[in-house]
Amino acid sequence: MKIGIMGAMHEEIALFRDSMVDVSTQIRGMREYTSGKLAGCDVVVVFSRWGKVAASATATTLIERFDVDMLIFTGVAGAMAAELEVGDIVIADSLIQHDMDVSFLPNTKKFEIPLLGVSNFTVDDIYVQLAQSAAQSYLTNDLRTNVPENTLVSFNVTEPKVVVGLIASGDQFIADPAIADKLCSQLPGLQCVEMEGAAVAQVAYEHSIPCIVMRTISDKADHSAAVDFQQFTIDVASHFTCGSVMRLLESL
Ligand code: ADE
Repeated sequence: MKIGIMGAMHEEIALFRDSMVDVSTQIRGMREYTSGKLAGCDVVVVFSRWGKVAASATATTLIERFDVDMLIFTGVAGAMAAELEVGDIVIADSLIQHDMDVSFLPNTKKFEIPLLGVSNFTVDDIYVQLAQSAAQSYLTNDLRTNVPENTLVSFNVTEPKVVVGLIASGDQFIADPAIADKLCSQLPGLQCVEMEGAAVAQVAYEHSIPCIVMRTISDKADHSAAVDFQQFTIDVASHFTCGSVMRLLESL
């Protein structure tokens, strides 16, 4: 099995590359695809860039040009569920594109992908469980040696937890509580928002391969989101996602 690992953070992709062996690199469509072995698995690692189009194009290249049989997407997300804190890890069991709306068409619901007839892309239970265990194992066993305590404290990360649930993706960085509230009321059970996961899940669905999406909460999608987001991504989230994916690969 060959696994495509896509990250929306340059820093986490750099961490993956540092741990890879038998490395070779190819540039296609403005992305750098690094093939090699990571934790004993054949992988292709790539920084997807941001947004649904960038992520979909990258996922398609991974499938068509690099023959991957599974996609893993990692990165950060804005919290929607009230109980989520910065530093928590969310594993998607279902993904939806919150900016998709062609409900003017007869028999088409809001959020439904036209012609596909699907709104929610679900992740197989087995992969949800493996990803959940991997993230929990990282937090329990590796976190304290991986990220300095004073860095965690500076971002108020105390006891990060792993949560499973619905992730919504759209081409918008959400930093307005009114927009966040509206999304929560439209999408019961929504855990977090980001800008790529459900697009990659759609590409995986259309090619009949599994897709796992793991996100670290970087902000609460409010007015401070953009400030919190950048430094947290570099100092903390890149380690969380890289460490969790390494644990996941060990279990596959
Ligand atoms: N990724 C991280 N935080 C986000 C937010 N608030 N909105 C969309 N994508 C994000």
